[in-house]
Amino acid sequence: CGIVGYIGTQAASDILLAGLQKLEYRGYDSAGIATVLEGEIHCVRAKGKLHNLQEKLEGIENPAQLGIGHTRWATHGKPEEYNAHPHMDTAHRLAVVQNGIIENYRELREGLIARGHTFRSETDTEVIPHLIAELLEKLKAEPSSMPALAQHSPLLEAVRQAVNHLEGAFAIAVISADFPDELIVARQQAPLSIGFGQGEFFCASDTPALVPHTRAVLTLENGELARLTPLGVEVYSFGGDRLRKTPRTLNWNPVMVEKQGFKHFMLKEIYEQPGVVRACLEAYLDTSWSPESATSPIKLNLAPELYSDLKQVQIVACGTSWHASLVGKYLIEQLAGIPTMVQYASEFRYAPSPLTPNTLTIGVTQSGETADTLAALEMEKQRRAGQSPRFEARLLGITNRPESSLGHMVPQVIDTHAGIEIGVAATKTFVAQLMAFYALALDLAYHQQTLSATRLEQILLGLRQLPAQIELILESQERYIEELAHDFAETQDFIFLGRGINFPIALEGALKLKEISYIHAEGYPAGEMKHGPIALLDAKVPVVAIATPGLVYEKVLSNAQEAKARDARLIGVTPLEASESAEIFDDLLPVPVVEELLSPILAVIPLQLLAYHIAARRGLDVDQPRNLAKSVTVE
Ligand code: G6P
Repeated sequence: CGIVGYIGTQAASDILLAGLQKLEYRGYDSAGIATVLEGEIHCVRAKGKLHNLQEKLEGIENPAQLGIGHTRWATHGKPEEYNAHPHMDTAHRLAVVQNGIIENYRELREGLIARGHTFRSETDTEVIPHLIAELLEKLKAEPSSMPALAQHSPLLEAVRQAVNHLEGAFAIAVISADFPDELIVARQQAPLSIGFGQGEFFCASDTPALVPHTRAVLTLENGELARLTPLGVEVYSFGGDRLRKTPRTLNWNPVMVEKQGFKHFMLKEIYEQPGVVRACLEAYLDTSWSPESATSPIKLNLAPELYSDLKQVQIVACGTSWHASLVGKYLIEQLAGIPTMVQYASEFRYAPSPLTPNTLTIGVTQSGETADTLAALEMEKQRRAGQSPRFEARLLGITNRPESSLGHMVPQVIDTHAGIEIGVAATKTFVAQLMAFYALALDLAYHQQTLSATRLEQILLGLRQLPAQIELILESQERYIEELAHDFAETQDFIFLGRGINFPIALEGALKLKEISYIHAEGYPAGEMKHGPIALLDAKVPVVAIATPGLVYEKVLSNAQEAKARDARLIGVTPLEASESAEIFDDLLPVPVVEELLSPILAVIPLQLLAYHIAARRGLDVDQPRNLAKSVTVE
């Protein structure tokens, strides 16, 4: 979900709507805004995408200068208008938006109902306005015993007390008809940033909603709440202590979140990949390095404790980041010789592997906000606490948002330099994660002394060619793939095959197609097809095989033959120069010849384009596919 808030001198509702538009990638089941005007709360909500809300608000003059807004990804309660945020208390004096999950909402709700509160939704969030209203009443009833904070601001104190009753992960924004000069926000394990303008202040779940207005941003930490007034921002701990905080300056501009002539963000982001790989090369490779140098060719600035006596690597991630991690495992094992496990963060949380002191744990998350990944890392942090400093240092994050919750949580981060990604289906951030893993694996290999200097140099040389090679694929193939996509507009199932380092790319190709085209797709290690999925094959099920020259090339080709023998239409991601491929495949998605180790970064590009064009052909909402959200900040 995404939340926004505004207090200042302009009409709040326009600013809130524009902010929600920038956050729509976080969820789009329903949306709503609430403003305070002439002593009343005005709340408008709509089921479905944001434009439904926009239509409802059209023509309504609303000069209110204080308000909050929400775009929802349903957790508790169906995506209906009555479940849409903002939610209010019984008397309609308070409105609240929330991102997260209130775990103890059932007992709170029962208590509140027993004490006479009327609930109107099925959501966990609705307990919050009722609770705050009740606490405010209590404060008012005993003015003499009011704590100092309540004398300063009763609303702030009531919210502070309320958040201390809440269990779970949440970020909230609160307004009250009785306090027209205050916007209260609080954060507990769900992201929330405050934007500083001149005589106006903003809050939002993510910075894209803030950059059109300001680049001075303060990200709240867990257990902090803030009071925004037209005069300024005060930050407090949940315990009530005033905290000193200064905003930082964001180094990106609003243009980065525009489509720039592309039909969809996803296509724009696919096209940004050569630049992203270049940015990663620039950040990670030491240009002055030569085989004679006595230092690592990679500059990641990781603590020396991370490398010494390293026996095992364990990676936790979700979704596309999990796929990147599988490629990472291949690289770390094959280049640096360190046994590596990759786990779904959501699984790992409840069945962690036994820990050994020589394990490096890596959390991979482009957003840095995925609740499962953060929780898995938090657990790892706890497991290591109080042990040796070296052990505690062995926690690493790979993220595209170093300023995110992940960035605050782990001692070391590798930034993936992809720039903000808006399309829900990850493309450029995936390629950037792969680049981070090349850098990390080579760095570990250097420290483990598993590669000769000449071999290192060879791989580095190969990496440097990648941007131009991606450009070549984009230039030479987009048209063709767009046409090919016509053939699959009605297809119901797809199989993606790959082996070795390209098995995760088959998974990623299938995931991209599923996510945005709603076509059922499965990624399989090519050799496993005969143990089950082959039963699905017939002339109606196309098979995409990644067949790039290397150790498993011939094997993939013979697995593809097995599919062809079952009448499947065969699509090959393979170099034109590989003549054996040309004979087998019905359609070719050519990629330049590179050594197998580097092939995933190229092989994924035609698969992204294929998924994109099939979805676009089907007339679907590529950037905001149904039921998904870009960053899932709930468990
Ligand atoms: C969501 C997105 C996926 C993404 C996954 C993990 O499900 O829709 O595209 O791969 O979260 O996100 P993260 O930010 O942790 O990489």
